[in-house]
Amino acid sequence: MNICIKDTNIEECMRKVEEINRGADKKIHIITLGCQQNEADSEKIRGMAYKMGYSLTDIPEEADFVVVNTCAIRRHAELKALSIVGRFKPQKKKNPSLVVALVGCMAAEEHIAALIKKSYSHVSFTLEPTMIYKLPELLFKALTDNRRNFIYGSDEGNIVEGIDVVRNSKHRAWVSVMYGCNNFCSYCIVPYVRGRERSRDSVAVIEECKDLISRGYKEITLLGQNVNSYKSDIDFATLLERIANIEGEFILRFMTSHPKDVSDRLIEVIGKYEKKIAPHFHLPLQSGSDRILSLMNRTYDTARFLSIVEKLRNTVPGIAITTDIIVGFPTETEEDFEETLSMLSTVKFDMVYSCIYSRREGTRADKMDGQIPEDVKSERMTRLLRLQDDIAISRNAPYVDTVQKVLVDSVSEETVNNCTARTLTNKLVHFSADSSLIGQFAYVKINRAGPFMLFGEQIKEG
Ligand code: 5AD
Ligand code: SF4
Repeated sequence: MNICIKDTNIEECMRKVEEINRGADKKIHIITLGCQQNEADSEKIRGMAYKMGYSLTDIPEEADFVVVNTCAIRRHAELKALSIVGRFKPQKKKNPSLVVALVGCMAAEEHIAALIKKSYSHVSFTLEPTMIYKLPELLFKALTDNRRNFIYGSDEGNIVEGIDVVRNSKHRAWVSVMYGCNNFCSYCIVPYVRGRERSRDSVAVIEECKDLISRGYKEITLLGQNVNSYKSDIDFATLLERIANIEGEFILRFMTSHPKDVSDRLIEVIGKYEKKIAPHFHLPLQSGSDRILSLMNRTYDTARFLSIVEKLRNTVPGIAITTDIIVGFPTETEEDFEETLSMLSTVKFDMVYSCIYSRREGTRADKMDGQIPEDVKSERMTRLLRLQDDIAISRNAPYVDTVQKVLVDSVSEETVNNCTARTLTNKLVHFSADSSLIGQFAYVKINRAGPFMLFGEQIKEG
């Protein structure tokens, strides 16, 4: 369902909280874990908080309202979130009016809600990510009555327009275009916590992009769990094309794509708009074994994946391709794992985000026989990282002596190579510059390349 915040009681709740807070210099502290979708959600939370009279603080002890925006993708991420939430117990004891909230993917899990209810009594409410717009209502309840609230598992997902976003960066912006996932990869918790796929209206997306570009944003990243499965009145390739046609100097990125929905037209559009659409494609492979891919319910095989890579490289010369790999999926044999290594050697990804398989309650893979022992998973992971390091060096070496257009993110006080920037292919570059360059495009001649970053010097023009 498409909801406009103006048609809900949310604005009324925000007004009531603002009244409570008026003149009191209230502060919110937001901790964001996990993916870019969470970053984007936190920017919405910040927007709502500002309207309710909060200002942002980086100092947890100063906060009147603490929001922990969590990730459920792996057990490790959940343990980290619980440990962060636990740290606020003494603060709540000292300051009983402190409101602590757990939001994000963990909040959608029934067993987490039960755990918070039972063992984290200092948490006022939990709220699943499909209903983030209910945060003002729950905050109002927390401030005015003592009952705790746990909102989970009750929503397939809505799209809410009209929340004022307060962004972290003044030059890079996230724009969510679709939410949720229908794929049910057998290892993954996301479809259970983020609801079914739903796409925003294309006009709303394009208007948001136009507004960002007119305000000087230099990079827009379209976000979605399966961004290229976007489907409204137009498909994803057409959406990209329409945004690329907006006037101005900016670059357009998108993530994360599912191989099953990489159409030939999408590849053509990326090639056609090379000045606007970044030559970078993040395409999760997950495993190089067709047997494991089938058990994962990924619906493509390695041959299909390789054909996409070939088309991308033929159509967009110099394109960087990055991927996700899961090591140690149930029943993965040494041969299966070697097939993954072999795919890495064949494709030569620019970067691999590899994860050790983590059992997630409620998923199909969690119930599979043949779970792989931790020491075998770690040993395989070490081998994969070693191989990928060499591949990344070989992918980055050709950048030496070339000139790259980069977007500058930050400049620190140090004297050499103090500036952090990204190439259009999304590679990290360090060089010397002054802070006036932050948020600007610059041209850098690359002198040195490592596996994870490039080093260079600024030159006058491209
Ligand atoms: N264990 C390990 N990695 C996982 N991912 C998703 N679920 C799991 C899991 N249970 C990884 C996938 C996905 C990325 C976002 O996280 O590689 O592409
Ligand atoms: Fe998880 Fe697969 Fe959906 Fe990605 S496509 S969010 S890995 S279920």
